[in-house]
Amino acid sequence: MTYLLALDQGTSSSRSIVFDAQGRVVSQAQQELPQIYPQPGWVEHDPMEIWRGQLATAQQALANAKLKASDVRAIGITNQRETTVVWNRKTGLPIHNAIVWQDRRGEPMCAQLRAQGHADLIRSRTGLIVDSYFSGTKIRWLLDNVAGAREQAQRGELAFGTIDSWLMWQLTQGAVHATDVSNASRTMLFDVHTNEWSAQLLDVMGVPASMMPKVMASSAHYGETTASLLGAPVMIGGVAGDQQAALFGQACFTEGMAKNTYGTGCFMLMHTGSKFQLSTNGLLTTSAAQVTPRTEFATEGSVFVGGAVVQWLRDGLRAIEGSGQVQSLAESVPDSGGVMLVPAFTGLGAPYWRPDARGTITGLTRGTTVAHIARAALESIAYQSCALLQAMSRDAVAAGAAPVSELRVDGGACVNDLLMQFQADLLGIPVVRPAVTETTALGAAYLAGLAAGVFRNTQELAALWQAQRRFMPALSRGDAAGLMDRWEHAVRQTTAA
Ligand code: G3P
Repeated sequence: MTYLLALDQGTSSSRSIVFDAQGRVVSQAQQELPQIYPQPGWVEHDPMEIWRGQLATAQQALANAKLKASDVRAIGITNQRETTVVWNRKTGLPIHNAIVWQDRRGEPMCAQLRAQGHADLIRSRTGLIVDSYFSGTKIRWLLDNVAGAREQAQRGELAFGTIDSWLMWQLTQGAVHATDVSNASRTMLFDVHTNEWSAQLLDVMGVPASMMPKVMASSAHYGETTASLLGAPVMIGGVAGDQQAALFGQACFTEGMAKNTYGTGCFMLMHTGSKFQLSTNGLLTTSAAQVTPRTEFATEGSVFVGGAVVQWLRDGLRAIEGSGQVQSLAESVPDSGGVMLVPAFTGLGAPYWRPDARGTITGLTRGTTVAHIARAALESIAYQSCALLQAMSRDAVAAGAAPVSELRVDGGACVNDLLMQFQADLLGIPVVRPAVTETTALGAAYLAGLAAGVFRNTQELAALWQAQRRFMPALSRGDAAGLMDRWEHAVRQTTAA
């Protein structure tokens, strides 16, 4: 039997999954990752805790499947993107906690970059808007604020990496300092046209080139793990940021294919082929996972509060005791009774980009019950995702391509049938849930399997992808448009007080 091991290092947990050569889950293991909030707007992780937790889950997943490392053909790594680690090359020790993607401390520097007129350069080279979400200003903050860091960096003693690089450095005990194109494209320092670090952007951001990892294709021979860690050396053959890995695991390999991951937030990505296109509808352009040196791109939009709205129903509103109750409460009423809930708790992301917006409930009547509010909360996930997909389709049509014709879904909340049906009703296209919903880890395993020769090409992977259920739109387009109009009206009410 052939096995592949995926390491999936996410924001809230580290997981490892063993897959067989048909892409079926054989075993898995998971550990929660503690969050560190030093002050409002700051979010950190302990890099050593990330490494130890990830290694433990890899060992556990192998043990659960009663496998030895020598049974594994290759490892694929996928990770929370943008999160930044800087470490000392000699000691292998981080100089500071990892600065997590959600951390906003780089915002003053972003304001400076915008004021200095660098926004167009950044957008045209990287496909990104200037934002502290990305790694660039996080590295800069570490160099400016950790005692002695800049001098050490200038002497070539420090290394930067996103979590994939950090794990690879540890897995190979310092032999490999590398990343893949999809992770590199989230730094605001990477030229996505040439697949190289941009000397100009490194200069603008004040980051020495010597800190940067080597950038490789997402499916490549990165190196071997140190034998003592898992019991035998295993080839690292795949690396991709988690959202691009999910796009790959969903077999969205060609222009116009899109996926949405329903987690705490939602991340929607559409493959746009090999041509770089900038969105005119508030979306980002990013590198897709790349198997060959040929550039491949995706447009991306994210919903900040997706499944997190259910946590708010539970912890904030105390409307339910456990997240699992939301579907039955929402289903106890035929519809939301005209209630719209816009969970703009931390502002609104694409396509609205309104950081100052705050949550709003509209359409309350004397007959409104907590069940209507629960239903509106659940539906808000679909409304926000629909706004993203409409923006993507507008971009596609403007570029002379066809609008998105099907949405593949994954992530925790995709098990919610009510939500998926409502999503299909709003979108007017099929919403398709695959048989294997662990698509992030699967994408990393597929990338590793391609490098190890387990699979020949992406056509073979596309043939392995199977739908578990297709949700077909059942609402008239007129009714769906009416609902979206009411949603957009509610969004307009979210101005800050
Ligand atoms: O861009 C951030 C994203 O990669 C985080 O994903 O699944 O760890 O929340 P996740």
